[in-house]
Amino acid sequence: MAGQLIEKTIAFVKETLAGAEGGHDWFHIQRVYNNSQMIAAQETGRFDAEVVALGALLHDIADAKFHQGDETVGPRVARTFLEGQGVAEAKIAQVVYIIEHISFKNSLAKGYTEGDTPLELQIVRDADRLDAIGAIGIGRAFNYGGFKNRPMHDPDIAPNLDMDKEAYKKSNAPTINHFYEKLLLLKDRMHTESGKRLAQARHEYMQGFLDQFYAEWDGKK
Ligand code: ADP
Ligand code: NI
Repeated sequence: MAGQLIEKTIAFVKETLAGAEGGHDWFHIQRVYNNSQMIAAQETGRFDAEVVALGALLHDIADAKFHQGDETVGPRVARTFLEGQGVAEAKIAQVVYIIEHISFKNSLAKGYTEGDTPLELQIVRDADRLDAIGAIGIGRAFNYGGFKNRPMHDPDIAPNLDMDKEAYKKSNAPTINHFYEKLLLLKDRMHTESGKRLAQARHEYMQGFLDQFYAEWDGKK
């Protein structure tokens, strides 16, 4: 997807995310954008390709984690930028909707129903989830765990699927547990057909990684 608006958005996002932490830097956005283009190219339903591109580029423009949990910052920054570019209100509303609803947590928010998942949001959400799994997902997980000074693995600490978000952030659980608590669950949460296919391949790659990891851990390979 080329075009002047997309080029300007890329420049804006790069500049805004300069110095962002590794998990949500420009390269994450670039990968999600590329994933979204890969899914969009195979999608047969009707959707607005420009909304997909803008949604992918702007989806992490202001992560609430770095704004005292304020989830209105991202949508506001995106809206102000798009208004400044003279984008039509209907299109801005679609892009902002994607930013507000991309995370799974928000999709479970009060009043939200699955019927409210436009194809543009499905594509960008799948694109973002793909970046959390596969080889990149493994890299991001250990990068995050290292940043938090967590152990890679501890056979005595079992994965815990019952923690709420706050408890999860505070827990010092080993990074390997994150695979069972989140990463291996993502393939069943994909929306689009091509997203599901790509997720399946990345899922199998992670399983192969885990098999090898445990074999090496036990000195068996
Ligand atoms: P998202 O961008 O999807 O909201 P997060 O901000 O929760 O994701 O995480 C960013 C990256 O860090 C993802 O790749 C995610 O898998 C990884 N990550 C998050 N929490 C953990 C954790 N407890 N252990 C290891 N990796 C994590
Ligand atoms: Ni993201």
